[in-house]
Amino acid sequence: MASPLKSLLSDSCRYLKSFQMYLERCNEHRLMQDFINNQLPNILSRTVRGKSHLNVIGVGSGSGEIDLKMLSALHLKNPHITVDNEVVELNPQQLSDFRDLVSLTPGLDYIRFHWYEMTAEEFEEQWKEKKMTKKVDLIHMFQMLYYVRDAGATISFFQSLLNRNGKLLFTLLSENSGWAKLWQTHSYQVCNKEINQVSTNDIKGLLDSKGLSYQGFALPCQIDITECFTEGDENGELLLDFLTHVLHFSKSAPPELKTEVMELLRHPDCSMESDGKIMLKHDCELVVIDQHS
Ligand SMILES: C[S@@+](CC[C@H](N)C(=O)[O-])C[C@H]1O[C@@H](n2cnc3c(N)ncnc32)[C@H](O)[C@@H]1O
Repeated sequence: MASPLKSLLSDSCRYLKSFQMYLERCNEHRLMQDFINNQLPNILSRTVRGKSHLNVIGVGSGSGEIDLKMLSALHLKNPHITVDNEVVELNPQQLSDFRDLVSLTPGLDYIRFHWYEMTAEEFEEQWKEKKMTKKVDLIHMFQMLYYVRDAGATISFFQSLLNRNGKLLFTLLSENSGWAKLWQTHSYQVCNKEINQVSTNDIKGLLDSKGLSYQGFALPCQIDITECFTEGDENGELLLDFLTHVLHFSKSAPPELKTEVMELLRHPDCSMESDGKIMLKHDCELVVIDQHS
């Protein structure tokens, strides 16, 4: 049955505002920064060995903060390496924000950027049409596989581009996160058909079946959802839109659904209360696929 609720993806301006609010209330980017500082240099040690140039692709990069942090960490350890960085991002505003960030960040002259305002699927089609044979050393897709038609097919395509010792990194929700419980419980009403309810376990199953080696890193994220429980709070409404991926969820959802969603979000399976704050358990995992041959 078609969902009567409008998808957040139908309004890119509201999507960006609610994603920004999510970033402000969640520790995900801080945990990503820790990962980049503490784990990434070791993970990439074989990838960069003996290289003077790397090909990198970022898919669904948003406004590029995490991408630039990764590239800076790489440069710090390997100042002699130059980079071709292809950015695949379908939202024009995000792509423009990324370009602005690049122009405002000094010391990026070791990177050549190539911008693709398109979906991952369109990029794949274009790559195949042009019969590209280029190999890639590092590919990353953080929190974006929910938005492709077939996450497994997207992973398989990008993994096929990896150079020997190349790495593909992606992040997704873990199955036991409070947010995943919301999506599982109300999948027909919230998050729409446009959203792929994929978790790291689904992709790991695919990687196992193909005999690919990978490593998982837990990202124990939390989102401060306290404002969601204050009727009429604009920040809370933006966050609820992002959590449900429903446009103006508070105003458009039927009262029973709204009550059920709010009860679930507050349930101890999904969130915990401390210091007067309600923190949603948002366990994610960062998976690194390793190309041996
Ligand atoms: C949740 S945001 C994550 C942004 C960034 N990777 C981060 O972790 O901060 C998802 C991003 O994927 C982009 N996106 C959505 N569908 C896409 C697709 N099919 N192909 C490429 N990018 C897509 C969105 O525009 C958005 O910038």
